[in-house]
Amino acid sequence: MSMSKPTLLFECSTCGAQTPKWAGRCFECGGWGTLGQTVSDGTPANLPPVPSANAVPFSEIESSDIPRIPTHISELDQVLGGGIVPGSLILIGGEPGIGKSTLLLQIAIRLAEKQNQILYASGEESGQQIKMRLDRLSTEPNVSKKILYIGETNTEKICASIVEQKPRLAIVDSIQTIRSNDVQSEAGSINQVRASTMKLLETAKQHHIPIIIAGHVTKEGMVAGPKMLEHMVDTVLYLEGDNQYHFRLLKTVKNRFGSTNELGVFEMTEEGLREVSNPSDIFLSSNKEPMPGSVTSVIMEGSRAFLVQVQALTSKTYFGYPQRRAVGFDTNRLQLLIAVLSKRLGLNLGDQDIHLNIVGGFKINEPAVDLAVCAAIMSGYKNVALPADQVIFGEVGLNGEVRPISHADRRLKEASKLGFQTAVCPKASYANPPITVQQIQSLKEFEI
Ligand code: TYD
Ligand code: MG
Repeated sequence: MSMSKPTLLFECSTCGAQTPKWAGRCFECGGWGTLGQTVSDGTPANLPPVPSANAVPFSEIESSDIPRIPTHISELDQVLGGGIVPGSLILIGGEPGIGKSTLLLQIAIRLAEKQNQILYASGEESGQQIKMRLDRLSTEPNVSKKILYIGETNTEKICASIVEQKPRLAIVDSIQTIRSNDVQSEAGSINQVRASTMKLLETAKQHHIPIIIAGHVTKEGMVAGPKMLEHMVDTVLYLEGDNQYHFRLLKTVKNRFGSTNELGVFEMTEEGLREVSNPSDIFLSSNKEPMPGSVTSVIMEGSRAFLVQVQALTSKTYFGYPQRRAVGFDTNRLQLLIAVLSKRLGLNLGDQDIHLNIVGGFKINEPAVDLAVCAAIMSGYKNVALPADQVIFGEVGLNGEVRPISHADRRLKEASKLGFQTAVCPKASYANPPITVQQIQSLKEFEI
């Protein structure tokens, strides 16, 4: 295959745009000082004739259940749709420091405990660093024999090792630190990430070895090309959490082999990530005494229900505009609900500072907590505590109407499981509610 003469080009390290002329600012993404010199590979000329692809009728293709490798971390297996599919490429994204490397090592340990050989390639940490973590996370002597470490940033070398060692699972930490020979630009750039992901994808598919890659995400999005990476891999999981709290949520963003509606809950402890099978425990405050301004609600994350505590504090505004602050809840939505309470119930909130807090650092974006937010504000404002064994959920409309929400039965079941006795909820048909339900259609029916 003959190649045309390489030409000099300038390429943006952030977005991958190419230009024949250097400029201080990338014309594509507007990044300053991101254009660097590169050499175009040249376009291949006089390609040999291409043989046609083999066409097979579906009748000759056997359908089969997708085989899976269980990780024996049940919160993770659930998120993956049952386990790791051989030959699949999985991305675990998350902010730096959230616990991706910890989770990856724990996956390796669990599989190694079952006599599986694991390959762990890291361009981020030295063998010693990882060994120290391994010693903390696992005391079983045979585990460290089953996990092979490669401290390497060259994608081709990593792929060659995977092919040579044929591990049950390969782990690459992280996609931003490895570099393929195919592309000139530096590690972490969009072209590098694309080329390296492509190489890993080919290796996984051709040799039926699943590969998990870690990818750093910042508040503004993936360092290089979030969407592009998501399109290439089979499964995308995001590890999320709040730095001030210990819980971590593992969410499915994309899954070719399962539902995207799954959620795993973990807690970061001294011994790594611990599975939390009863998440409501974390998000409910330990204080079980009824308190004014404190209300328990039930939220859905994917297909799971859990209880959260909503707290509102109202206090007279002494200076300037009344303040409206919310932690874990949308401030605009809070303002809207305050307007509804003022207008429809005649509550005089115009001279009240209102602070709303979702206990445990959880961020809620479902309208089902509207009614609980309203109840917490009313309870706080009137200084009257609501029963401690009561849960409240429902969407609130601009006219003060209380609208039905999804999965009401599942929410009631979760509340009942945790010992709650009554629920204030939208009017709907409930099949054998496990606890007493007080159904309301309007905020006006809600009495404090
Ligand atoms: P890490 O897995 O290195 O994050 P990432 O790979 O996403 O950047 O996790 C880093 C944090 O986790 C670090 O602040 C220390 C903490 N940690 C624990 O609290 N307990 C543990 O057992 C481990 C291994 C880490
Ligand atoms: Mg890491």
